[in-house]
Amino acid sequence: MTYYEDPGPGYGALPPLAALRSDAPRLSLNGTWRFHLASSVAEAPDGFEREDFDDSAWSSIPVPSSWPMHGYKRPAYTNQRYPFPVDPPYVPDENPTGDHRLVFELPPSWDGPAVLRFDGVDSCARVWLNGVELGVTRGSRLPAEFDVSGRLKPGRNVLAVRVHQWSSGSYLEDQDMWWLPGIFRDVSLIARPVGGVPDVFVHADYDHVTGAGTLLVESVPGAVVRIPSLGVMAEAGQSVTIPGVEPWSAEVPRLYDAVVETPGETVSLRIGFRTVAIVDGVLTVNGRRVLFHGVNRHEHDPVLGRVIPPYRLRQELLLMKQHNIIAIRTSHYPPDSRLLEVCDELGFWVMDECDYETHGFFLLDWRGNPAYDPCFTEASVDRMRRLVERDKNNPSVIMWSLGNEAGVGRNLSAMAEWTRERDPSRPLHYEGDLSCADVDVYSRMYASHAEVEAIGKRAEEPLDDPVLDARRRAMPFVLCEYSHAGGNGPGGLPEYEELFHRYERCQGGFLWEWMEHGILLADGTYAYGGDFGEELHDGNYVLDGLVFPDLTPQPVLAEVRKAYEPVHLSADPSAGVLRIVNRYDVLDTAHLTLHWDLADEGIVVARGTLEMPVIPSGGQATIELPPLAGPAQNRERWLTVRAVLAADVPWAAAGHEVAFTQAQVEPTQAAEGTSATPTRPARASHGSVRLGPGRFSERTGQLIGLHGWDVEHVPLELWRAPTQHDARTWDATTLDRKTRWANAGLDRLRYRTVAVDLRDDELVVVTKVGAAAIDAGVLTTYRWRSDGDRLTADVEVEPVGHWTVPWARVGVTIGLPAGFRDVTWFGLGPGQAYPDSRAASRVGRYTSTIEQLQVPFIYPQENGARGEVRWAELSGIAGYLTLTADPHLALTVRRWTIAELAKADHLEDLRPGDKVWLTLDALQHGLGSPTSGAPILPPHDLQPRPHRFRFTLG
Ligand code: GAL
Repeated sequence: MTYYEDPGPGYGALPPLAALRSDAPRLSLNGTWRFHLASSVAEAPDGFEREDFDDSAWSSIPVPSSWPMHGYKRPAYTNQRYPFPVDPPYVPDENPTGDHRLVFELPPSWDGPAVLRFDGVDSCARVWLNGVELGVTRGSRLPAEFDVSGRLKPGRNVLAVRVHQWSSGSYLEDQDMWWLPGIFRDVSLIARPVGGVPDVFVHADYDHVTGAGTLLVESVPGAVVRIPSLGVMAEAGQSVTIPGVEPWSAEVPRLYDAVVETPGETVSLRIGFRTVAIVDGVLTVNGRRVLFHGVNRHEHDPVLGRVIPPYRLRQELLLMKQHNIIAIRTSHYPPDSRLLEVCDELGFWVMDECDYETHGFFLLDWRGNPAYDPCFTEASVDRMRRLVERDKNNPSVIMWSLGNEAGVGRNLSAMAEWTRERDPSRPLHYEGDLSCADVDVYSRMYASHAEVEAIGKRAEEPLDDPVLDARRRAMPFVLCEYSHAGGNGPGGLPEYEELFHRYERCQGGFLWEWMEHGILLADGTYAYGGDFGEELHDGNYVLDGLVFPDLTPQPVLAEVRKAYEPVHLSADPSAGVLRIVNRYDVLDTAHLTLHWDLADEGIVVARGTLEMPVIPSGGQATIELPPLAGPAQNRERWLTVRAVLAADVPWAAAGHEVAFTQAQVEPTQAAEGTSATPTRPARASHGSVRLGPGRFSERTGQLIGLHGWDVEHVPLELWRAPTQHDARTWDATTLDRKTRWANAGLDRLRYRTVAVDLRDDELVVVTKVGAAAIDAGVLTTYRWRSDGDRLTADVEVEPVGHWTVPWARVGVTIGLPAGFRDVTWFGLGPGQAYPDSRAASRVGRYTSTIEQLQVPFIYPQENGARGEVRWAELSGIAGYLTLTADPHLALTVRRWTIAELAKADHLEDLRPGDKVWLTLDALQHGLGSPTSGAPILPPHDLQPRPHRFRFTLG
């Protein structure tokens, strides 16, 4: 068996230790290395590890790097399927092998013991220094250190690393992401001073009853621990109790600078005092229940692959905090350790997950699952050991996760057993074993709202084994993944949030997932699965984030921020009060101020501030609103109240909004229809009918002209460009909506004119809408009226026949000249709004260009509808068009048709045409998150039903 197929963890590496910052000399070996890529091990050059090997004909590559991002082979994306024959622990001959060489000078000051550290190599590396083999490492997202004492030479040294894309380790790393081999994290040389501090294990507990901290630092005998700001000085191994310590939490991440010293070395630490405990079935930190407002975070950079520059790590975390996200699951492997340092500093609850997933075996009914196979036991435990040892001192890490989707098996049990023994202070998580035999927390992914509710009541379906059932029923519950963010979506966040607040046991979850994994190509476009000619791939499933690959928020991030608001505001202007509920785990509200404004049809007419009462965590208060004048006749007046940061914090500036609410001040009267003096429809030339500014085809009754423009009119739309969620189901026994809509012909409707009736004061057009081969249809009746300047349509739709699918929308499209550019509307904004994804929208007056109304999803799909529009104006060189709606309609304006949007595979396929397409939706199907199994909640599933609406064009 080859060394890269050996199922063990490798050989030669030192026992794993904590990631520490020390004053021991450290030499970064990052930089430009010589590089040679062979398509197979057999083709890799012999003797490349020798000091005198001539690598002058080789090319070079940066280290750290993912080599497919530098033109060597290509990235490949699969979700569950292994991209090679499943034959553990063997891998195919076609095993890209990247030889890396670095010649470096050792500074003259260096001598004595040292280690060579790799923070991450994907997937297997064999390492030589000066021609002498150091060993082999697997476990891509885990560090490995080799002892190079006595092997370093003064002056010139030659480091040679052979990296194999595939190894036995690949069987344990079947995460849903790009396969990206390479030395993708730092390489460093670290001096190990004699009498130094090899390892540190900080135990810093907090007693919420007494307010005291207890500190015990395990290290070498004789090491001294100091926390200057607390006046603490202790010996390693000595437990000290420190009264009046400020605890660490994700909301108040109080860190104490500390050092651990020996005569040979000083290690710097940032200690956070906190105690994690499960009490009466509830997960607590420092004695308080915590709620995970979290995301799953993969490590991805659209240009560098799995190399994450430090500035980007911080940027990601800042963006999360600014959107009320306070928890991270490091799906599905340990992140760059710098991330955890920033999590400690900014404040996040972290579920730190092992680099362990064997999902491809699920497709084989788990036959041969390495999580069960004893030959993988050592490698399995080794991975857990390297995770825990590396990250054991990070206060942000409050839970260990054994991995993801690796079925069940003795190796998982062994990993759990080792972890409990080593670190009993943190609960264990693993979702893949429903019995929860090895863990402390009950976790599910993508459970529906109904199931979460049952779990919240501790009334879930029982396990067969009553002992395990009772044990699990007593556990806290988290959703390790929920609300899949594939493409446009998800909807349904507030409903989950409501359950988290209603049931103590439901302690939140981690949205799937933080970032989309699109890859930026040289031409500035983004690629997804299949774009690199992969034999097997899972297409756009890799595009499933709350933020685009460049970290630009997608619309749903605003929804997340709203759902995760740490204070809940609700205003009742008629009673003159504002109710405030403090939902922070720890913080009171002293750091917030309240701002309000009053807007008359979107124009602010008054504003001010309100004193924020100091409400303790979990408390509530009601305060008085200022007197608010009612609206003018026929106008809408809305009060907006915002809770903002009173002062700068490390992750946002003063004034940053953490919560808002809106309430209407006195109900408005219904908007008036068209004028009381109607115009008569009249026959005109070329078989047309004139009515006010409109021109109609006498034959079909369709609007063909407006204000002198030639227009196109689609009397009824029932379809939309399918979203990624529309195109997938979780459950293989049901068809996805895209297919069901196609089967029902919603994308190929035809129109039959039933009647065009010119009456005294109206034009009545009845159209039967249906699709080839389908007997279900819709009778659509337009009653057009005009006051001479404006044109009003009263539209009535009535499903006829046997409908078996929901509709995507009930809408009307009008094709206008291309010369429109700007859109102003009064309704929900500023971003898109769909029935189940609109909590973040506010009623207001907004202006945008048509271009800015579009959400640039890498895989084009329905997007950008503005909800509850009362009126809108379109303007541009073509002229000026006004629109009013009653009841409110959703407004979409695009330079391409729905069919063109649906047909595009990439954003760049969308090209402006010779029309601007205005779609008014009376009803819309929600976005949902069915990709993940949670059904879309009624009434957002738009079942066929009769409906009436009205719009006016002027
Ligand atoms: C889960 C899996 C994730 C991701 C997600 C996508 O089953 O744990 O890695 O694939 O599904 O829906």
